[in-house]
Amino acid sequence: MFRKNGRKHGEVYTKQDVVEYILDDVGFSSDKNLENITLLEPASGSGAFALAIINRLYKSSEKYGFNFTDSLNKNIVFVEKDKESCALLRNNINNALENLGFLNQNQNCVYNLDFLVENNFSKFDCIVGNPPYIRHENLDSKYKSFLKKNYSTFKYRADLYIPFYEESLDLLRDKGKLSFICSNRWLYNQYGQLLREKIATKFHLIKLINIEKTSPFDEEVIGYPCITTIAKSKGDKTLYFETNAKKVSLNALSFTKVLSPTCSSWQNLFLDYDINHSSLKPIIDQNFEIGIGVATGADKVFIKKESELNGIERSRVIPVIKSNSLKGENIIWDNSCLLNPYVNGNLCNLSEYPYLEEYFTENKEILKKRHIAKKNPNNWYKTIDKVKNDLLHKPKLLLPDLAGSKYLFIDNGNFYPHHNVYYITNHNLDRLKILASILMSDFVKDQLSKIGIRMNDGLPRFQSQTLKKLRIPDIDTLDKDVKNILIKAYDNKDLATISNEVDKYCTKSNIL
Ligand SMILES: C[S@@+](CC[C@H](N)C(=O)[O-])C[C@H]1O[C@@H](n2cnc3c(N)ncnc32)[C@H](O)[C@@H]1O
Repeated sequence: MFRKNGRKHGEVYTKQDVVEYILDDVGFSSDKNLENITLLEPASGSGAFALAIINRLYKSSEKYGFNFTDSLNKNIVFVEKDKESCALLRNNINNALENLGFLNQNQNCVYNLDFLVENNFSKFDCIVGNPPYIRHENLDSKYKSFLKKNYSTFKYRADLYIPFYEESLDLLRDKGKLSFICSNRWLYNQYGQLLREKIATKFHLIKLINIEKTSPFDEEVIGYPCITTIAKSKGDKTLYFETNAKKVSLNALSFTKVLSPTCSSWQNLFLDYDINHSSLKPIIDQNFEIGIGVATGADKVFIKKESELNGIERSRVIPVIKSNSLKGENIIWDNSCLLNPYVNGNLCNLSEYPYLEEYFTENKEILKKRHIAKKNPNNWYKTIDKVKNDLLHKPKLLLPDLAGSKYLFIDNGNFYPHHNVYYITNHNLDRLKILASILMSDFVKDQLSKIGIRMNDGLPRFQSQTLKKLRIPDIDTLDKDVKNILIKAYDNKDLATISNEVDKYCTKSNIL
């Protein structure tokens, strides 16, 4: 439940400049008459927003001469589920009020409840905050069932912040505004789809500030933060700002891009180029074949270390490469071998391979339990996928499903890929090296992160959807010199040159 720093999951506090920016964005500023403006903060923590809200309300009351505490208790709602955080919040609010000269105040504005389960509030003019992020897998299963039943956007592997958005949006009054600092993952990924659709069809996304590398919080978190400001009104233009800078001065942003997010598909919106540009092509349209390695259904039986083969016929043994062999600076084979029951595309006759026969027979019960064996009882020793004879000896680019390295590797024909490794083949090794280089470029990484491919510490995940969606420079149109540079850069693992060359190509072809 607790993280290393003693805080619970979902507890990350917001820095003051972000708080002030968000309050300005929803129009809760002290130069306005805030007497009758209603405001909700649905996940208050110890009060990063609350204290700024109180100060603004007080200043406004001074300027416009209304009763500050009446407005506070009537119009402002701070919600916090956690008892201890809520006690801290009350204490902090109490101190702030005392500093302003208000002693022993009732705190009718603070609610210790679960915003997603227990709220009974009417609608608000302003909603602000930093909703809790708790990953799907860390949510309690009963709680998840409740959320599924009660929140239409809580689908797939949604994080807790998704229903927070939904509930908050539903509590916006006409013309009201909501601004949250939150993870930006929902802008791109599958679990954000229904929330995107809700916003695109029923609200106006006024502003999107994507500050992936900035830390707007009081501790380092990998949250890929963004600020979204949404109004309950009509409008289809969104001011967009993104930066990779570590520090951003929010008040000096220049919004150079305007987006029009339609329905659920916001992908491609964030790219600075047209993904359908004629100089970009999918991998499979460039004479490459893509496949996934062999699934056996019983790796414990079919995959053995070289030292454990005990005389099994060498012609039935193939070196197999697993994704964890592709995580370093070079391919490091872990001596795993596949016991191949196929000869020239047909299941072998076991009696011709007595050692293999003996070994498979010893493990017959395990092998027969597999679905594939139940479907074909006579062929109980076949692997789920056929082992393709020629694949072993072909040069192939190997792409581990879960990236673990910034480098991609080409196997010159020594290994057979295991099922969590994708491979791309082409008869021309140089062409494969060019492709490998392109796939390691910043251009590709940026495209993948923006079209919603899950990244692992900045490294792409290669899955079939990744390989289908990707649009890369058309290799046939590259100058000979550029091809040579990319081939050499692959050999030298020179990522800087690779990114530079790919960028130059994109600029020259008017893609970037
Ligand atoms: C990311 S923190 C934000 C805290 C504060 N608003 C800030 O920006 O510094 C999210 C807060 O939401 C609270 N929280 C989590 N689930 C909640 C729920 N269902 N209802 C209300 N608060 C909740 C957590 O206890 C945590 O204090």
